[in-house]
Amino acid sequence: MKKNIAVIKGDGIGPEIVNEALKVLHVIEKKYNHTFQLTEVLAGGAAIDATGNCLPQESIDQLLASDSVLLGAVGGPKYDSQPTENRPEKALLRIRSTLGLFANMRPAKLYPQLREASPLKDELVDEGIDFVVVRELTGGIYFGKHETWTENGQETAQDIMKYSTAEIRRIAKVAFDTAMVRRKHVTCVDKANVLDTSKLWRRTVREMAKDYPEVTLDFMYVDNAAMQICRKPSQFDVILTENMFGDILSDEASMITGTIGTIPSSSLGETSRGMYEPIHGSAPDIAGQDIADPLGTILSVGMMLKYSFGLEQEAEDIDRAVNAVLNAGYRTPDMMSEGMKKVSCHQMGDLVAAEIENNCKEM
Ligand code: IPM
Ligand code: MG
Repeated sequence: MKKNIAVIKGDGIGPEIVNEALKVLHVIEKKYNHTFQLTEVLAGGAAIDATGNCLPQESIDQLLASDSVLLGAVGGPKYDSQPTENRPEKALLRIRSTLGLFANMRPAKLYPQLREASPLKDELVDEGIDFVVVRELTGGIYFGKHETWTENGQETAQDIMKYSTAEIRRIAKVAFDTAMVRRKHVTCVDKANVLDTSKLWRRTVREMAKDYPEVTLDFMYVDNAAMQICRKPSQFDVILTENMFGDILSDEASMITGTIGTIPSSSLGETSRGMYEPIHGSAPDIAGQDIADPLGTILSVGMMLKYSFGLEQEAEDIDRAVNAVLNAGYRTPDMMSEGMKKVSCHQMGDLVAAEIENNCKEM
């Protein structure tokens, strides 16, 4: 198979973690005789440094010409003084919107090896944590009108949260389809006791549920969901929610699994071109120290192989290799616990790559 992959290394720890993920991608490429043509694309802070623009047209063209996109992380305090329109985060939002990536999947799965790193009590962890947050990614308050003005001598601002039925339907479909290949349970998270958008979500999702008689659908207010995720995470299978609620809940969900560093994500639209990235940020405080956790990015490569390219066996190799390395007791500092072997970012990448090369036999 031959594929063009656009690679945005980004800022902060971005380049370090992406390099490890590419190491793993190269091993897969060699082992299975694929050709992955990589194009480095500038976006975010790195693009501002090089061109003054957080997402130059050339980058957009390169992304549109690719079969899929791998991204590290963008942003950092260095860019705080940029006007809102040119902040690194804007580049990310523009990419999501330009590529039509409305469906963001963020799995919250506890690796049993990392249970010591979870802040939850043992009895909760023992019940298992394995759910996925299906986050709407190109609508809602992130993409509504943002304005700041002066009213009665006061600086005043507003951000509009807007959703159409069509936007809700297409993301709800992803959630229901995902539930069908999992434990057939969707929890739609909203604030329907206050927001009109949430009421529309409820009506639309309830209507769609008729097409999925096997799926159990329930609704939960977002404040309660935030609480339930740490009170009894085993109750969740698929959480379906709008953009901002999904942003917040997916950070919470990642933490209870032990470390945000290990969680990958996929963002897809109507085509097979997706963007794959770890859910954590650019962590400028630890950048350049070779201590970041590359597993979220490595597992994101796995998701790309599986969901954009249909390479199930290759993706499974990556999962198995990560499991084996964790089983052997290797940990980056973010997931370190007593008795384990602390390794650096690049050592973790080497270990996973070697595991794929040596031990994940083709079936
Ligand atoms: C995420 C991030 C982004 C978001 C930021 C960087 C704009 O937090 O991917 O979760 O809010 O979507
Ligand atoms: Mg976030």
